[in-house]
This record gives sequence, C-alpha cells and structure tokens, in this order.
Amino acid sequence: MLAGKNITLGVTGGIAVYKAAQLASNLKSGGADVRVIMTRSATAFVSPLTFQTLSGNRVYTELFEPVVEWNVQHIELAAISDLLVVVPATANILGKVAAGIADDLLSTVIMATTCPVLFCPAMNVNMYQNPVVQRNLAMLKDLGYHFVGPGQGRLACGAEGPGRLVELDVIMEKIQALLSPSDLKGLKVLVTAGPTLEPIDPVRYLTNRSSGKMGYALARAAASRGASVILISGPTNLQPPLGVELKQVETAAEMFKEVMEYFPRVDIVIKAAAVADYRPREVSGQKIKKTGSKLVIECEKNPDILAELGRRKTHQTLVGFAAETSNLEENAHQKVKDKNLDLMVANDVTLPGAGFGADTNIVKLVYPGQYVLPLPVMDKLSLAHRILDEVLKLRDNRQ
Ligand code: CTP
Repeated sequence: MLAGKNITLGVTGGIAVYKAAQLASNLKSGGADVRVIMTRSATAFVSPLTFQTLSGNRVYTELFEPVVEWNVQHIELAAISDLLVVVPATANILGKVAAGIADDLLSTVIMATTCPVLFCPAMNVNMYQNPVVQRNLAMLKDLGYHFVGPGQGRLACGAEGPGRLVELDVIMEKIQALLSPSDLKGLKVLVTAGPTLEPIDPVRYLTNRSSGKMGYALARAAASRGASVILISGPTNLQPPLGVELKQVETAAEMFKEVMEYFPRVDIVIKAAAVADYRPREVSGQKIKKTGSKLVIECEKNPDILAELGRRKTHQTLVGFAAETSNLEENAHQKVKDKNLDLMVANDVTLPGAGFGADTNIVKLVYPGQYVLPLPVMDKLSLAHRILDEVLKLRDNRQ
C-alpha cells in the first residue's frame, strides 16, 4: 500500500520527535518515498541529519533558501505529496493551521497542499486539555483534517493523562487507511476470527491453534478500504484494528448466535475463524479430579455456522477458509458445494510459511465450478487485500 507513495513527514518540536525518526524509517522500508520537513524547534531536539539518513532524502527546514531542486519549494512539496503526516503535532502547529498562519515551511506546505493531512498530536496534558487547543482540534476536524491520538499514559514531563504520541503501529495503520482505495465504501463486511473455546469444566477447555492473525488482517484491510466492519472474534492476543466493531465470543454457540444476528444486515461474510467442530457434551460444574486412570470426554457436534449461512444466503457474498493437511483441492471443492460458498480460501497448514500462528500464508482460491487460483506466499495483510479484490470482482460479475 505504501509502495510508490510520496509521503511528506512534518516534524515539529516536541520530545516525541525521536519517535518520528523511527516512523520515517518504517515508512521508507514500507516502500514510500519520504520527504521530511522540520520546524526550527524540531531541529533543537534531533539533527536533520538523522532524518536525512533514515529517509534517504534531503531534509527541508527553511521557507526561503537558494533553489536546489524545485522552483517554488513549498508549492512543489505540497503538490507532489500523496499524504502529509505531522508527527508530533504540537499545540503550536495546530493553532497556526487553525488560524490560517503560514509563516514557516511546514505551515506553508500544509496551507498549500490538497492531499490529506494527518496530525498526530503530542503535548503536555494541560496544554492538550486547554480549551483553546480543544477548540482548534474541533475546528480542524470539522475542516477535514485527519487525526490519530493522542494516547493516554505517563508523559515525558512526568504528568499522567492524554497527550502521549500514539504508538507507531497505530499511526502506520491510519496512514495505510488514508492511502487505501475506498472501494469498499458503503459495504458491510462481517469477519470471524480466532479459535473458539469449548469448556470442559471451570478451569479446562478444548480449543485449537488459530492465532486470529488472518481474520484480524481481513478486518483491518476491509476497514482501511472504507467498509463498515464487524469482527466477531474468539479469544486472541491481538489488538483490534482501528474503526472496527469488535464482538468477543468464546464458544462456537456464542459465535453462531452473533453471526446470525448480523447476517441479514451485511453484504460480505468472511469466515476465517477456526470453529471447534465438537464441544464436550456435558460441562462439569466442578473441576474434574484425577480419580480414574483414564478420562473420556464425550463430545457432541457444534452447529456449522458457515453451512447455515449458505442455507440462509440471499444477497451476501460468502467466503470460507479451509485449513487442510491432505487432499486440499478435493476437500475445498466439496466444502464450496456443501456450504454454498462464493469463494473458499484453502491452505495446507503443513507447509512452512502457511497457516496457524505464522505471519505469512500460502493459499489456493477455490471457486464454485472447480476453478482454482494458486497464490504465492504472502504476508497476511497483503493476502487479505487480495481476497477482498477477488470478492469485489465476484460482486461486479454478479451485477
Ligand atoms: N466453520 C463454521 N462452523 C463450524 C465449522 C467450520 O463456520 N462448526 C467454517 C470455518 O469458519 C471455515 C469453514 O467452515 O470458514 C471450513 O472449516 P473447516 O474446519 O476447514 O471445515 P469443516 O467443515 O469443519 O470440515 P473438517 O473439519 O471436517 O475438514
């Protein structure tokens, strides 16, 4: 998503400047062409050389300087940017932009650009809560400027409260979202993710190795493309993506109930969850003691959520996942048919770089009518975008 994008990073004078240096490096390694504008006070914290080295481009600090590259530097910088990100955004830069003041290179470029501008505020808690700053924030939001943060916590000045720069991965996620096409705008997407957990007694349960990473990547990708996303998730250790409605469940029965409730209102369902096929027939109210030499747990079948969706499907596009250890294509074709799917994402979880817990996946897309499209090894977010591309194609063909 970042490859080939021109991102201008505006750096203002706050202690969080050192984090902006890491952000410059992350953006560059993501494939973006990064140009950094530093205000004079930012250079009091970190030398421009740091940003020059990390971005691989010269750093801009002065509004008026002898022409090096472009005729009118602030106009050209404004014109070539796909996105302008201000990190950290101090009370001063927010106040200047809100008041229409353009008296240095950064404020002038912000004024002259037509690309989206993202502010990542960071300042002392009392400054942040000052009604003047709050008024400026509200005014800038109304005018269409984008914001992420600030976060809560201990600030560099020792105070506690809102004012910290948000984590860099949250900023990266917002940047990705602002640069993504909005081709899912107006669509409601339901994603299920993670394992389910089936209790045996108050302290034990049956579950599986699903980490939830694939489902969370799908929810993140869909939200960044403008969809309204409901993520119904079994227990995971993952941060829910920005702007996604999260419903946490434990058992397959709970997931079934939530999914059926949302189903009539959604356009696309992607069932990446690894739902337990069986649950213990009886859940002991007390912890089971180790009395006998062996323990037999009798299980009964859980409802097949996806198969039920296949039966109830009206206008929805239905995507399933199949984790297989043998006869991948044959099993996937059968499931596409049995569950009335529009697409099945099938992966052989025995391959290195595929399946549970990994950050990458190797899948075959299996369509009704025996068509199979093998994909190369991909990171889970790229694969999520690829699956969404295919879903959009299927929906276009249907119309
Ligand atoms: N699935 C579901 N409800 C279940 C079991 C599976 O909704 N009780 C969904 C999964 O979320 C996945 C798809 O069905 O999208 C295929 O899951 P998988 O476990 O591969 O297939 P099963 O139908 O359970 O068949 P088997 O375990 O025998 O391979």
